[in-house]
Amino acid sequence: MSSVAGRTLVVGVCGGIAAYKVAGIVSTLVQRGADVHVVMTEAAQRFVAPLTFHALSANRVHTSLWEIRDREDHVLHVTLAHRAAALLIAPATADAIAKLVHGYAEDLLGAVALAARCPMILAPAMNSSMWEHPATRANVAALRARGWQIVGPESGFLAERERGVGRLAAEERIIAALEDAVARTHELEGQHVLVTAGATREAIDPVRFISNASTGAMGIEIAREATLRGAQVDLVLGPTHLDPPHGARAHRVESAREMHERVMALREGVHVIVAAAAVADWRPAVIFVQKVKKEDVDPMLRLERNPDILAQLGAAKGAAFLVGFAAETEHVEEHAREKLARKRLDLICVNDVSQPGIGFASAENEMLLLWEHGREPLERASKREIAARIWDRIATLRGAERAHEGEA
Ligand code: CTP
Repeated sequence: MSSVAGRTLVVGVCGGIAAYKVAGIVSTLVQRGADVHVVMTEAAQRFVAPLTFHALSANRVHTSLWEIRDREDHVLHVTLAHRAAALLIAPATADAIAKLVHGYAEDLLGAVALAARCPMILAPAMNSSMWEHPATRANVAALRARGWQIVGPESGFLAERERGVGRLAAEERIIAALEDAVARTHELEGQHVLVTAGATREAIDPVRFISNASTGAMGIEIAREATLRGAQVDLVLGPTHLDPPHGARAHRVESAREMHERVMALREGVHVIVAAAAVADWRPAVIFVQKVKKEDVDPMLRLERNPDILAQLGAAKGAAFLVGFAAETEHVEEHAREKLARKRLDLICVNDVSQPGIGFASAENEMLLLWEHGREPLERASKREIAARIWDRIATLRGAERAHEGEA
């Protein structure tokens, strides 16, 4: 059975010549059991009549923010967005893409896209020179970094009677992307996930501390992706200016000892633990109650070890799938493999922090995933995309583990 059966999908149609092809997509989705709601922009209605989509979807087609026909319509953009298991925009024109990047909500589709928290798929179609323009390239990259999945465009014969990249992706590809995206929203249903993220702060006195450059961004994206895949998520988060993701339960902590205590209190019955936090290995042996005066202090700071949270989780290894992080500057794979074994992890995500623009306080990341019998390099991408790839790998490894247990 298709993953879209019984699910509500919102399909946004924009004003491009490929709009007629979306009729076929809506028809196939309906045949696979989806409840499809079509939103058309003003320009889309110049290419295809709303009646076509009405007849195919057996639902009223939405064309305006201002049409209020019943009580639900009052906040139509929000109700549609929240009911959707996925949002598809096809054909996505250069103009529609630019508006999505900036969050314009002057029409219904823009407002729905802003309110949506579901997987979002964009199938662009336009002339190849518009597709290749740096403005469009930058806009598409911005949406991808925010978690939009971009399908196509493909190369072939264009409306301008020339060949080039710009054709709407084939219907099967778009449908497959939608089905996969909806299937992923169930992947972690009924699963409890615990994530640590951010730096810790080790107090010296009431105003001074030892810490590091971690912002928690990578761990926050890991937690966000787990909630999008249906998990119940507890996020133990060190001090950061970033907000925890919608849907996760956030536990704010300061020091490594607080993080340790909270993780130990939460770990019971957890299915997957991802330790993305950059925990300080050391803390000052003495914490001054009053602000230290420079004349009064001994310039030597005596340190003592913090508990290694991940190592303890590994040592008491229960059924939870354990994922650790490592930041290395040399002999990257060798050091990380040693850590994988020593901390008894199922997977380790390694950053080569000797490279510029990688890891700490950077919007992008590039990682190497290592597990007992394998490795997967992840190309440079936004932290959100990297988080999705990490969960894909966790799903594959856990699937293999379960199959193995089933055989045993
Ligand atoms: N970690 C932890 N508690 C600590 C230190 C680290 O849970 N006190 C976790 C981090 O969240 C991360 C991994 O362990 O998942 C990183 O380990 P790292 O600090 O690199 O490992 P160490 O064993 O301390 O290695 P090194 O010898 O390189 O310092």
